[in-house]
Amino acid sequence: MRDEELLQHAIKAAQEAGLLLMERLGHEHKVEHKGVVDLVTEADKASERFLVERLHAVLPEATILAEEGSGTDRAKGLRWIVDPLDGTTNYAHGYPVFSVSIALEQDGAVVLGVVLDPTRNECFTAIGGKGAFLNGQPIHVSSTEDLGAALLVTGFPYDVRTTERDNLTQFRRFLKTAQGIRRGGSAALDLCYVAAGRFDGFWEESLSPWDMAAGVLIVQESKGRVTGYLGGAPDIESGHILATNGRIHEAMQAILVEIEKEAGLPSLEMRRFKKK
Ligand code: IPD
Ligand code: CA
Ligand code: CA
Repeated sequence: MRDEELLQHAIKAAQEAGLLLMERLGHEHKVEHKGVVDLVTEADKASERFLVERLHAVLPEATILAEEGSGTDRAKGLRWIVDPLDGTTNYAHGYPVFSVSIALEQDGAVVLGVVLDPTRNECFTAIGGKGAFLNGQPIHVSSTEDLGAALLVTGFPYDVRTTERDNLTQFRRFLKTAQGIRRGGSAALDLCYVAAGRFDGFWEESLSPWDMAAGVLIVQESKGRVTGYLGGAPDIESGHILATNGRIHEAMQAILVEIEKEAGLPSLEMRRFKKK
């Protein structure tokens, strides 16, 4: 199947999963705890069941890595990477900021990405080498040159209560340097907002491949820049990410590198994704 055709299937699947989430939004949820503050609702599970079945039907030869189920290791060939509900904490509180994220990987490289915000009907998409789009219209990153004028976004890890790597050192430094910082609650959407020029930069650690896979491609295809905290090619299994409009990338990276060298934090390696 051609990339374009696969993209249309992935968009359709995301939209149907989005409808399913919207139907349940604001209702009482069956909430289970994966950790002290890490939740999963029946909506996450229903969305995942639907997406796994649908994506398997679209491409039976592909394996699937999805948040609430068993997954496969990075491998040769095709693999869907799915977050059936990115922004579960928001969703469980009825705060309408969440998304569905679907990526397709070929031999370890993401070739296609879809992130749907069902509350605004905004669908962000990209195919490798073919640009990034919002509801079919091309998008591109902002032109902000100066970190002091930048609007940044980040998130905090689920083990924030106990870990030394709680992102507060970085948060404090960027808060004192940038124009403003937001905490959106859906990393996939944070990335797409960088791609669309709504945010100038995003950093976060302790993410999983399904939080980042689609969004990273969408930022790259919107002419943004994506690396790990210390530079280098982005690795969706590293846990950490810096995604910017390119123009403020070095300034942000310099701060992240300085903190890694001087703040005495445990190694970033502890954030590497481990499959359950
Ligand atoms: C979370 C969101 C959030 C980020 C967390 C993620 P979930 O995903 O993307 O923005 O800060 O680290 O785990 O659990 O809502 O799918
Ligand atoms: Ca997520
Ligand atoms: Ca999720």
